[in-house]
Amino acid sequence: MVPTNTTVLQHPLIEHKLTILRNRETDNKLFRSTLHELSYLLVYEITRRLPLRSVRIETPLMPCTCQVLAAEVLLIAVLRAGLGMVDGILELIPSAKVGHLGLYRDECTLNPVEYYCKLPPGADRMHAFLLDPMLATGGSLIYALSLLKSRGLSNIIVTSILAAPEGLQALHNAHPDIQVYTAMLDERLDENGYILPGLGDCGDRLFGTL
Ligand code: PRP
Ligand code: URA
Repeated sequence: MVPTNTTVLQHPLIEHKLTILRNRETDNKLFRSTLHELSYLLVYEITRRLPLRSVRIETPLMPCTCQVLAAEVLLIAVLRAGLGMVDGILELIPSAKVGHLGLYRDECTLNPVEYYCKLPPGADRMHAFLLDPMLATGGSLIYALSLLKSRGLSNIIVTSILAAPEGLQALHNAHPDIQVYTAMLDERLDENGYILPGLGDCGDRLFGTL
């Protein structure tokens, strides 16, 4: 069962590109460019509810009232893998600010360990997209959301690529107010907390640190 606050995006192009990411034969360069393209494809859906404001312009034929984005957009990349999603989204929202949150999963406990956090001034009034391709146990995103809320952010949308049912449920239990978008809901976690069938270690595949 998918929690009510979760949208699983379904689209042939998304499925196609996900298959490239999953394939163990995909090298680092193709993995990076495909994650970039996939993130670009997600933007249309994740920004669906951004507020607009009216502006008065003139077309070549007549004056008219049109709409432009009213929101200040903030992309927050969970390091390292979230970095792979930033540029694809920036292509469509070039005015977005970018924050970074450094977390890694302790290999034994699977608990997140924080090592860096840099947010732009005024982050608390922005529309934030929290970017992490992998939602496994959910521990990292649960931690990230608690941290961002403690800094005053309230308008946060989680954007991921692959989610495990266990992690999605845990995230919903911890932060029922948060909307989650994921490109795909996978089957389950393995005994090491990896998503199955998954794509392996996203950060390692992105940066060649396998
Ligand atoms: C990965 C991934 C998520 C986290 C997901 O990061 O990018 O941040 O694991 O797992 P969770 O839902 O169980 O918390 P990792 O800890 O491997 O760090 P890295 O990106 O720096 O390699
Ligand atoms: N982090 C990853 O990169 N992959 C997983 O499957 C789980 C956590």
